[in-house]
Amino acid sequence: MKLREDFLWGGATAANQYEGAYLEGGKGLSIADVERGARHGVQRQIDDYVHEDALYPSHEATDFYHHYKEDIALFAEMGFKCFRMSIAWTRIFPNGDEEEPNEEGLKFYDDVFDELHKYGIEPVVTLSHYETPLYLVQKYGSWRNRKLVDFFVRYATTCFKRYKGKVKYWMTFNEINATMRIPRPYHQAGLIFKEGEDANQTVVQASHHMFVASAKAVIEGHKIDPENKIGCMLLFPETYAATCSPDDQVAAREKMLSLYYYGDAHVRGYYSNTCTSMWKRLNAKAPEMEPGDEELMLAGKVDYIGFSYYFSSIEGGNAEQIEGNVISGGRNPYLKITDWGWQIDPVGLRNTLNKLYDRYQVPLFIVENGMGALDTVEEDGSIHDPYRIEYLREHIKEMIKAVEEDDVDLMGYTPWGCIDLVSAGTGEMRKRYGFIYVDKHDDGTGTLKRSRKDSFYWYKKVIETNGKEL
Ligand code: BG6
Repeated sequence: MKLREDFLWGGATAANQYEGAYLEGGKGLSIADVERGARHGVQRQIDDYVHEDALYPSHEATDFYHHYKEDIALFAEMGFKCFRMSIAWTRIFPNGDEEEPNEEGLKFYDDVFDELHKYGIEPVVTLSHYETPLYLVQKYGSWRNRKLVDFFVRYATTCFKRYKGKVKYWMTFNEINATMRIPRPYHQAGLIFKEGEDANQTVVQASHHMFVASAKAVIEGHKIDPENKIGCMLLFPETYAATCSPDDQVAAREKMLSLYYYGDAHVRGYYSNTCTSMWKRLNAKAPEMEPGDEELMLAGKVDYIGFSYYFSSIEGGNAEQIEGNVISGGRNPYLKITDWGWQIDPVGLRNTLNKLYDRYQVPLFIVENGMGALDTVEEDGSIHDPYRIEYLREHIKEMIKAVEEDDVDLMGYTPWGCIDLVSAGTGEMRKRYGFIYVDKHDDGTGTLKRSRKDSFYWYKKVIETNGKEL
């Protein structure tokens, strides 16, 4: 199989990390808007409300809201076929539980999608990317509460109807499986566990609500426009056994089960044995369901799997533990590591593509991949980022092998943070992923001026030659 001629080369972003204008155009507060910046190894502080004297990275971010025309022109210059972004739920429903949407918010995304189409760039839209309305978290307890299903479905159907003919590629929840993998799934599900709360049971229940919400959205989205392709979005934590000891193989497999828990529910449309056995492992009960939920999950299976892949780790033995952004794992002595402790493993991307395709046999979409690094602006304004080019080149090589040698059905590739934006894990600006540099710093200063890095020109060539010139 060859890489498709219409392969979706592009880049990926999320509203809460990129858009800024956190209160403009009638927008309400999202969970990101009360989260302060930190640094590698330090947890971000989450407030109950916006403190006047504090700095919140999402408030301005890198200001796509006021720069979208300029930014989209730069994406077009690189030859993007698609652009992954999220809609900020709070621009459409500022609190989340309103009956009617906010017209100004809807209009903003109309303008963005029109601008993208002007250049033939296909929008790829995540409905919920770490930006649940804060009000829903504070008033309803976030996804613990079944009511969020209806709020989300109202929001999703509003978007499907409004952007019919403008947006075809959708994803429901970003990195939904991190809800089970991490001790504080605030980004994914708006959850911070209360003292004495049975955290595992909450995760099982909240995840069930998200599965039902996603399934309903898929069903409605297909009804509104049969052309819609609606996917899930999984974080793929590739894991190897630390040694060839059989026990380490078991440990490595177990580390992956929470991924398959979410993959099975979304793609197979039911709670497989992987899921039911997970309840036992977690010492949790099956989630409470309403009559009809199982039928909904089956009828609302996703059309494709979008996933993020950044690094791999090892499990078992006495491996030294390192921290990634949302997940940790063992140190693999065969791999290099970034300044933020992420192990660079291009071959792991080929493994990942094969594992997901073997198990699910639905089209795949790499919607995040990349390397956060410190960039230096030279005196003449140029930015040389050979480390980023090397990272991406090696990953693209392995991606192409998975398609051309292993016959994996792959829709596209959108490296993360194609333009510099706020880090989700740390809230930093200095951890940069972009082909485009934005003059914005951790202390909130900067002119927001955009400049092309060396990788900009390199990626343009990659797209022009459909991956032949790397
Ligand atoms: C993924 C998220 O976890 O990784 C993005 O979907 C995030 O929102 C990206 O930004 C990179 O992580 P970080 O912590 O470097 O921003």
